[in-house]
Amino acid sequence: MIHRPRRLRKTNLIRDLVAEVSPDKNKLIMPHFVKEGTSVREAINSMPGIERVSIDNMLRDLEEDLNLGIKYIILFGIPDLKDHAGSEAYNENGIVQKAIRQIRKNFGDEICIITDVCLCEYTDHGHCGIVEHGEILNDPTLVLLSRIALSHAQAGADIVAPSDMMDGRVNSIREMLDSNGYQSTALMAYSAKYCSSFYGPFRDAAGSTPQFGDRRSYQMDIRNIRDAEREVLLDIDEGADIVMVKPALSYMDIIRRVADISPVPVCSYNVSGEYSMVKAASAVGYIDEQRVVTEIITSLFRAGSDMIISYHTRDIFKNKWF
Ligand code: PBG
Repeated sequence: MIHRPRRLRKTNLIRDLVAEVSPDKNKLIMPHFVKEGTSVREAINSMPGIERVSIDNMLRDLEEDLNLGIKYIILFGIPDLKDHAGSEAYNENGIVQKAIRQIRKNFGDEICIITDVCLCEYTDHGHCGIVEHGEILNDPTLVLLSRIALSHAQAGADIVAPSDMMDGRVNSIREMLDSNGYQSTALMAYSAKYCSSFYGPFRDAAGSTPQFGDRRSYQMDIRNIRDAEREVLLDIDEGADIVMVKPALSYMDIIRRVADISPVPVCSYNVSGEYSMVKAASAVGYIDEQRVVTEIITSLFRAGSDMIISYHTRDIFKNKWF
């Protein structure tokens, strides 16, 4: 006899009945780039549909997004001033801190605010840590990262998300939050963050391209698997509530592996370059954007993601792609 797996592919209803995974748009997180000023709205050339906006415009976008059903956001700040120590990152009146307070004031708890905790958007050299003699120093950076995270928590962030890849940052941040009364601020660690070329468009957006060298001494080597497990386990041990794998598409093996070993939820970050490729190919008609985006998001859930940060989020909700 012939075994016939096709029986379960025969009709829409049967296919739906046996589907193992479905993409859940309520677990998508929309990134926002916020900058100083008023009425600012700047296109990001390499990321069609994504903009750098001032707080007033961000609040307008958030209201529209919330009406569509988007409840989760991650904030990235673009300061006016960058310096050697990234001091705008932990200024209580810095751009992200002001943005958080305004979002809370306008939307209460209707929006879950996640903040990226890093120095690279705030340093003049573009690295994610303190630099001395061309070296990215680990331990002195921890002090600053903890101050950034605390300032975000004080402004009202729900979840802080360190993306720097310094050793021991989760532990330092957790201690800093706890000792200041922010025990209930959650920590999402960019745990398995690879040194990827897919971040190019983001660095255009945030002006955070390293001015010398690269990030290979802190972000993970793309050739490694065990290192991802180690980073994830260390971060969980240090107190991470959620761990992240980044980028997503070339790293589905890592997402699967992390999902298999992690006792905490796993986020994957569908990064800027992944978004830009889809946008560029769709714009010239090489691929069908709706179908490809649906396939990408479904695949990331299938690989083991519990939630996904994606620049496609707004399009998915707006166009009801799934
Ligand atoms: C900051 C940070 C980066 C991204 C998120 N947080 C840039 C980097 O590490 O160079 C990249 C996100 C994306 O490409 O969409 N460290």
